[in-house]
Amino acid sequence: MDAIHTMTTGKVVALVSAKGGVGQTFLATNLAIALQKKFLSITLVDGKLQFGDIAIALDLHAAVTVKDVAENIADMDHSMISNYLSPHESGIQVLAAPERPEQAELVTPDVLKKTISMLREHYDYTVVDCGYAFHETTLDILDVADHIFVVTTPDMTALKNTKQLLDTFRQLEYTNKIQLIINRYDMEGLIKAEDIPEMLQMGSVEYICNDFKLASKSLNIGIPVVGRRSSSELSKNIVQLALGLLSKNEEEPTLGRNREKKKWLPFKK
Ligand SMILES: Nc1ncnc2c1ncn2[C@@H]1O[C@H](COP(=O)(O)OP(=O)(O)O)[C@@H](O)[C@H]1O
Ligand SMILES: [Mg+2]
Repeated sequence: MDAIHTMTTGKVVALVSAKGGVGQTFLATNLAIALQKKFLSITLVDGKLQFGDIAIALDLHAAVTVKDVAENIADMDHSMISNYLSPHESGIQVLAAPERPEQAELVTPDVLKKTISMLREHYDYTVVDCGYAFHETTLDILDVADHIFVVTTPDMTALKNTKQLLDTFRQLEYTNKIQLIINRYDMEGLIKAEDIPEMLQMGSVEYICNDFKLASKSLNIGIPVVGRRSSSELSKNIVQLALGLLSKNEEEPTLGRNREKKKWLPFKK
């Protein structure tokens, strides 16, 4: 833990997926809380600027959102960014997505990058639920992220898309900061989880078990499983994911820091 407390700026962890519905939001909220339980300061950013659902997943009524950050960005310095966060009862701070989808366009890639760089001045970890993988704002987040958690489920469509996503990420030289997460790895009748690392050419893989009843109830009532249902396998798996991340940062405290913006971004507008 010492390495973490001597960090000069916090780490940014971005969750991304190649297909909707694989559990990115569920994992982002619970991972943030699992990290917070290790006595770290955590901010959770809803990077899915249109139809972001972090606030619902946490039953949070955000009075201010990233749209307000965008409107005031010109005069903002890092001491002011905390005013735009909404506290969750777990102790994490949340930067919610705009209330309305049309407000998302105010949040340009530059706004988001500046926001994240201000957040990392204050918080040990900034966890970002990225939403769409190849959106312009997402690529900017991935550039500055220290860790990219690529979330997939073990079904053929998700795996096909994830393989293509990973190929692109390798070309973007993200390889060293990618962690593959196979969510719902033990779903019945699907591809065997143990075959997936080879299929996707990924050595570093974390597994989260399938518990639809618990996960969907948690999202629907807005109460995360970590902390509340800590005896469940699902909660234990996510805590393990958080611990793995912390131990990585003890080993490699400067991993991926200060990366140069890529010149070649095939999916930029
Ligand atoms: N580990 C899991 N086991 C079972 N169901 C899960 C798990 N993780 C997520 N889910 C379910 O998958 C659905 C999509 O989750 P969500 O986090 O909204 O996905 P995404 O943000 O990737 O679109 C939800 O119904 C949720 O309950
Ligand atoms: Mg989501």
